[in-house]
Amino acid sequence: MNIFSHARRSLGQNDPNFGAPLDTTHGTILYVEGVTVSFDGFRALNNLNLYIDEGELRCIIGPNGAGKTTMMDVITGKTKPDAGSVYFGQQINLLELSEHQIARGGIGRKFQKPTIFEALSVYENLELATAADKRVWWTLTQQLNSAQKFRIDEVLVQIGLQEHRYKNAGALSHGQKQWLEIGMLLMQSPRVLLVDEPVAGMTGEETEKTAELLLSLAGKHSVIVVEHDMKFVRSIARKVTVLHQGSVLTEGTMDQVQNDPKVIEVYLGE
Ligand SMILES: Nc1ncnc2c1ncn2[C@@H]1O[C@H](COP(=O)(O)OP(=O)(O)OP(=O)(O)O)[C@@H](O)[C@H]1O
Ligand SMILES: [Mg+2]
Repeated sequence: MNIFSHARRSLGQNDPNFGAPLDTTHGTILYVEGVTVSFDGFRALNNLNLYIDEGELRCIIGPNGAGKTTMMDVITGKTKPDAGSVYFGQQINLLELSEHQIARGGIGRKFQKPTIFEALSVYENLELATAADKRVWWTLTQQLNSAQKFRIDEVLVQIGLQEHRYKNAGALSHGQKQWLEIGMLLMQSPRVLLVDEPVAGMTGEETEKTAELLLSLAGKHSVIVVEHDMKFVRSIARKVTVLHQGSVLTEGTMDQVQNDPKVIEVYLGE
């Protein structure tokens, strides 16, 4: 699949990376190597190494200030590190790309505060997310092609909002808004999805549904989930990475990391 062709069109630039298929021949979709980010001499990330496999669901945990959000900022181009390298597949150097280019190129990020349009319906929000031209009036006066309509229906089912398609987004529950936001990201068919604290503020039932949703996305997408809610993490966990002071403390199954004395010490010290 030529994931960068639409990005090249919208950017109108001749970057050799754009238009090339994503090279994941080693099964790794994201390489974060030796990444350091300093804020006034304080190292929020300190020689961080992280490798994400294609299609995997990775949970990242760690105490407050461990650098989890900063790590997402680096992957999505919001923060440029002082040292290290970040590659998308074998060949795409993310440090050379802007935040916008990275988002258009297949790395979607869900922010905690949803950026949905409350006055528009669920369907219209998804419609907007398909469009290259983000001006609301423009998008909503364009005819969707059948592939786009099919994709919207598919995403509505994935996020469990098919019965609310005509509802104003502003009338959705907190959890439903979060799912709509994920749906809007899915409209771009991202290869990698980053979600930071997705279940904060959700009811127990919404949290369970979010777990099901994220599990259903793995395989088709690589999903990186940062969350403090350990019950939730346990319910979706495959491989878990523990960050501490800007580096990886340990990685493994949920049981392995929770029984690791280093991890226990770090959490007790909070
Ligand atoms: N823009 C910034 N300027 C200065 N310091 C920052 C900035 N962004 C983050 N930090 C600091 O870097 C460290 C890591 O922050 P980060 O937000 O990445 O942690 P986190 O693991 O996401 O924590 P939490 O679980 O509380 O969300 C913290 O000490 C934070 O205060
Ligand atoms: Mg954070």
